[in-house]
Amino acid sequence: MAEFIAFEQRPSIEPALHHPKRVSMNNSKKKLFVKTYGCQMNVYDSDRMTDVLATHGFEVTDALADADMVILNTCHIREKAAEKVYSELGRLRTLKQRRRAEKSDMVIAVGGCVAQAEGKEVLRRAPFVDIVFGPQTYHRLPEMLARHQRENESAILNTEFPVKPKFDYLPKPTSSGPTAFLSVQEGCNKFCNFCVVPYTRGAEYSRPAIDILAEARLLVGRGVREITLIGQNVNAYHGAGVNTHREWGLAQLIRALGDFGGLNRIRYTTSHPKDMDDELIAAHREVAALMPLLHLPVQSGADRILAAMGRGHSRDTYRRLVDRLRDAQPKLAFSSDFIVGYPGETDEDFDNTMSLIEEIEFAHAFSFKYSARPGTPAATMDQQVPEPVKKARLSALQSLLMQQQHSFNTTCIGQSMAVLLTNRGRHRGQLVGRTSYLQPVHVEAPDALLGGLVAAHIVDSQPNSLSGELVGRSFATSDTKMTSPR
Ligand code: 5AD
Ligand code: SF4
Repeated sequence: MAEFIAFEQRPSIEPALHHPKRVSMNNSKKKLFVKTYGCQMNVYDSDRMTDVLATHGFEVTDALADADMVILNTCHIREKAAEKVYSELGRLRTLKQRRRAEKSDMVIAVGGCVAQAEGKEVLRRAPFVDIVFGPQTYHRLPEMLARHQRENESAILNTEFPVKPKFDYLPKPTSSGPTAFLSVQEGCNKFCNFCVVPYTRGAEYSRPAIDILAEARLLVGRGVREITLIGQNVNAYHGAGVNTHREWGLAQLIRALGDFGGLNRIRYTTSHPKDMDDELIAAHREVAALMPLLHLPVQSGADRILAAMGRGHSRDTYRRLVDRLRDAQPKLAFSSDFIVGYPGETDEDFDNTMSLIEEIEFAHAFSFKYSARPGTPAATMDQQVPEPVKKARLSALQSLLMQQQHSFNTTCIGQSMAVLLTNRGRHRGQLVGRTSYLQPVHVEAPDALLGGLVAAHIVDSQPNSLSGELVGRSFATSDTKMTSPR
């Protein structure tokens, strides 16, 4: 097994580029392949890792076999997600061996939440891994890489939670396109009994509003039309305010972004029902650029289970919150997360979840079988639900949610909706974009409109997407929202 060395604080960043083993004398760029698992936060982090390494001579490749360095940015939220990483590592081992036979190397790095939660285990099960780093230390990747190359056979393990946040060290984001994620908050203090996030991402931290606005300005200047503010517990945001000694909440941040010219769409995810305050509810009424789809995980519709999960809200408080939000913004549609088969969940509890879904009517949702995560209180609770029961409940729940999603999509037929065109479609002359409700829409449109906001007349709906026709052939100036989604 490779020996690993814990990482220690070093003041200077030593560029990997200058290591004799890795430097190519013709100055050609080294190739970086990043594979991302899990949530939007990981997508954002992966982009930032490539930004950091770009300043040290790396460029991104889509061809794994060509890569000089591979990063797996991992997710630990459910067992399946973590196990996927180990099977991917099995494949990487073969590629690395082939490289070694050719007297070169492929540096393998494992980052993200699996690395944070079980870094030593990663090195035990995959001793050929070179670098293991947590979500709070990726700004130091060049330094880790240089150190690994100096120390040759030793693997680097860096899963600390640094005192100073990584955001202070990251270069400006370079990603392009009409949409962007912007991390405003990280970590979680809620400690729901099933969840690993508070352990892997650490305590809540909110970036100062001034830094967020500067990053947003940069993105908008580069042509970004839609920004999604992200955080594990984004509506708990409370960062240092601008020109005040008082902290700003998420609503203030959204209002400030709402005044940006050129930014058409603002979203935020993921929220906790307990942190949905009056100001944020009012922002949904008052900020035109704030999109009318809210991801608000409820997890279960049974009070007994919500209490056992330690969620800090009941079925009724969630129900009433949805009503208040709908009163404030009638166009608002909801998306949510559900867990079935939480320890102790009875048929009656599950029926309560189903009836809550029927009452609320969701436009979209994610749903999961409960997965015991080591170190969380729920993992050792009595009355774990048998796998076949979980499977049957998940199937019933997903079929109800899919019906609701399809019927939501069907209500869009005949409407004129704003669509932000983000990609080319599969067919020639086709572009794909998203509505204000994040539904994918396929339209026949010229490439020149890519990246633009257009009005589309919706002519057909499928469970997961819509088909539309351009209304005119020009950009829309703002999001033309539907009269009512329901
Ligand atoms: N098992 C199943 N699903 C989980 N989630 C979080 N932890 C677990 C777990 N242990 C789900 C929750 C959360 C989403 C991101 O993942 O629904 O909101
Ligand atoms: Fe996990 Fe969300 Fe609960 Fe935090 S609020 S512990 S991130 S489920």
